[in-house]
Formats: sequence, C-alpha cells, structure tokens
Amino acid sequence: MTDADRRPLLQVIVASTRPGRVGEPIARWFAGYARDHEAFDVEIIDLAEIDLPMFAEPEHPRFGRYTMESTKAFSATIDRADAFAIVHPEYNHSYNAALKNAIDHLNQEWAGKPVALIGYGGVAAGARAAEALVPVLVALQMVVAGAVPIPFAMKNVSGEGAGRVFEPAPETEAGAKGVLDGLSSWVGTLGLRGRR
Ligand SMILES: Cc1cc2nc3c(=O)[nH]c(=O)nc-3n(C[C@H](O)[C@H](O)[C@H](O)COP(=O)(O)O)c2cc1C
Repeated sequence: MTDADRRPLLQVIVASTRPGRVGEPIARWFAGYARDHEAFDVEIIDLAEIDLPMFAEPEHPRFGRYTMESTKAFSATIDRADAFAIVHPEYNHSYNAALKNAIDHLNQEWAGKPVALIGYGGVAAGARAAEALVPVLVALQMVVAGAVPIPFAMKNVSGEGAGRVFEPAPETEAGAKGVLDGLSSWVGTLGLRGRR
C-alpha cells in the first residue's frame, strides 16, 4: 500500500472503563459503521485496555516531555490519528473521569484534529456530558464535528459478554452517517490526510 492509498485514520475511543459497560458494544457498532462508510481506516482505542494511571507528569503536556512509559505509549497512539469519535457515557450530568484523565495526559497529539461525540445515557442521551466535553476539546484546539446522542442506549444492547450487540435506532444511524461525513470533510479542510 502506498501513502496515496492510505485513508485517514479514525480512532474510536471507548471512554467507559467499567466492567459490563454499554460503551463497548456501541463503539464496536460505530467502528463497523465507520468502516462501511469507507472514508477512514478505523481502530478502536479502549481506555480500559490503555489503563492509564491518574495523571502524574511533572510538566505540562504541551511540551511533550513525558517521563512515564504509559504516557509515552499513549502519546504515540493518539498522535497517529487524523480524527476521533469519542464514545462516552453520561455520569452525574457530565462525562466520565477516565476520559478527562486521558484527555489531560496529552496536548499536541489532540490539537487541530476533528472529533465527533457519540454520547449515551438515560433520558438525557448523554447530551449533558457532550455539552460539558465541548469546551474541554476546544481548549485543546480540536474541531467538534458533531454529536450523536443515544437515549437509553442499554435498551438497544442484547447478548452476553463479548457477544453483546448494539442495534441502533434509525436516527442514531443517520446521526452516525452525519458525523462521519463531517469528520471526513474536516480532515480534508484541515489538510490532515497522510500525517502518519
Ligand atoms: C456513576 C454513574 C452516574 C450516572 N449518571 C447519569 C446521569 O447523570 N445521567 C444519565 O442519563 N445517566 C447516568 N448514568 C447512567 C449511565 O449513563 C448508564 O448506566 C450508561 O450505561 C453508563 O455507560 P457505561 O455502561 O458505558 O459505563 C450514570 C451511571 C453511572 C455509573
């Protein structure tokens, strides 16, 4: 494969880290949908697997002078992405702490890249979490390319363990197409293709 054949890389970030999380089957569905959309190469970044410690670097991440092997590895992972879809829950009217910890670990690796928010929760559909997340992403000079709020997402998950499947409502699928089109457009506008 030449660089010209390579598609921009979309990372689908699984923000929830708890056992039995609904976010994991939602992220697998979204990643599959994104692959079928064909604008991106797609990989899933699972914060439970990354398993970052609580942020403890001595310097501001904008300098990139990381001391911990866990930060260096996470930096290399996020740096290779051209765009992100963050699959995040709503916890106590905001997004979850593991996601904030992961975001705060880095700086330039996020900056100047488009991001879509795939939020979920109860009746509020993760919308309050997404609203809380937007200013954080703006602080990192990210471009928010849209949000897909999923109400009562747990009702659309069936099966057990690794075989759990998320079946989207038609409006969720339409929202997914919209944000993928938006991310793809921003990747072109921002000239990110081929950064890897
Ligand atoms: C600590 C905690 C706080 C929650 N707070 C809210 C909330 O404020 N609003 C909401 O709609 N759902 C809330 N929920 C419900 C979650 O959105 C729902 O359980 C969802 O499945 C969590 O995502 P996860 O399974 O991927 O971790 C909360 C759940 C937890 C565990």
